[in-house]
Amino acid sequence: MYGNFTIKQNPVILGIESSCDETAAAVIRGRTLLSSVIFSSAAEQAKYGGVVPEIASRAHTDAIDEAVKAALKKADIAFNDIDAVAVTYGAGLLGALLVGLSFAKALAYTLNVPLIAVNHIRGHLAAAYLCDSKLKPPYVTLLASGGHTAILHTKTYTEFEILGGTSDDAAGEAFDKVARILGLPYPGGPNVQKLAESGKAEIAFPRALVKNVSKMQFSYSGLKTAVINYCHNAEQKGEQVNRADVAASFQRAAIDPLVLKTVESAKMLGVKTVTAGGGVAANGYLRDSLTKACKEANIKLILPEKVYCTDNAAMIAAEGLIQYRAGNFAAMDINASASIPLK
Ligand code: KG4
Ligand code: ZN
Repeated sequence: MYGNFTIKQNPVILGIESSCDETAAAVIRGRTLLSSVIFSSAAEQAKYGGVVPEIASRAHTDAIDEAVKAALKKADIAFNDIDAVAVTYGAGLLGALLVGLSFAKALAYTLNVPLIAVNHIRGHLAAAYLCDSKLKPPYVTLLASGGHTAILHTKTYTEFEILGGTSDDAAGEAFDKVARILGLPYPGGPNVQKLAESGKAEIAFPRALVKNVSKMQFSYSGLKTAVINYCHNAEQKGEQVNRADVAASFQRAAIDPLVLKTVESAKMLGVKTVTAGGGVAANGYLRDSLTKACKEANIKLILPEKVYCTDNAAMIAAEGLIQYRAGNFAAMDINASASIPLK
């Protein structure tokens, strides 16, 4: 019968992630990362200008066994060494999530080890634990992905407070929309960053809610409209817009408020450590600005490598460890969820 698990202090956890277009597997032992493997269907998705759910599900089905085997091999771990399987159960594309979840269930069941259902966004938060083995709460996190933009105050390993969020689009979503306006291919964020590198950030796009620094709220719809209007006005006058300048100016307007308010939150709370997570935290301008701002404020910054900011399974294993230690195991009838709240 499934159950009656042996609980260890530093378990070997296999993490599995398949919520969007990355099929990822990773192995940790305690807080030590042993391997992380990521297969992506992004090149295939780019042909359609965005993620096609059915293509993503099929790509996961093709890749998942290979990803898991490769992660185990890299970590020099056998199936029988696995103490728990942590898997993303939401939020994300349902068909895509079900591939990873079903695979994880079968594996946990066969090995008779706990199945841990991980909230993808909490995974982004937990990524920082793997890049600094000494990191412990309290700390403030800037979370910026395709679906979320928030500043969080983590008080204990399992408790956090949401200090603020976005009233409309997420930061990553804004990058993706502006990429479309500028005619850049999928994935939008990295392509906007690349174009911005050759531009001057001199167009005065609105930096939402930046005047009230202590209000931990963001908004991206006004910025997006300003970019659209700028491009349309130029078009109507028969002028050529400098796309690189638009990208650089947008990037600065989108990111400055995130950096400013994250550091302000830490200062207001008297918290001495800041972390970041989510795809937008892979942005070079954000990384440089946050590093500089934290240094100036004498705050320690734990910034996961870019590959652990965008979707990966190491962060799922890391959040799995927190849930493992809290004894939070999933039942075998757990289902995937397209959307789950952060809290
Ligand atoms: O965390 P993530 O990989 O997936 C979600 O959980 O949403 O974040 C994806 C988002 C996308 O909107 C993507 O355009 C953005 O993160 N992103 C970036 C960069 N890399 C990924 N945005 C700006 N600059 C980047 N370098
Ligand atoms: Zn993500």
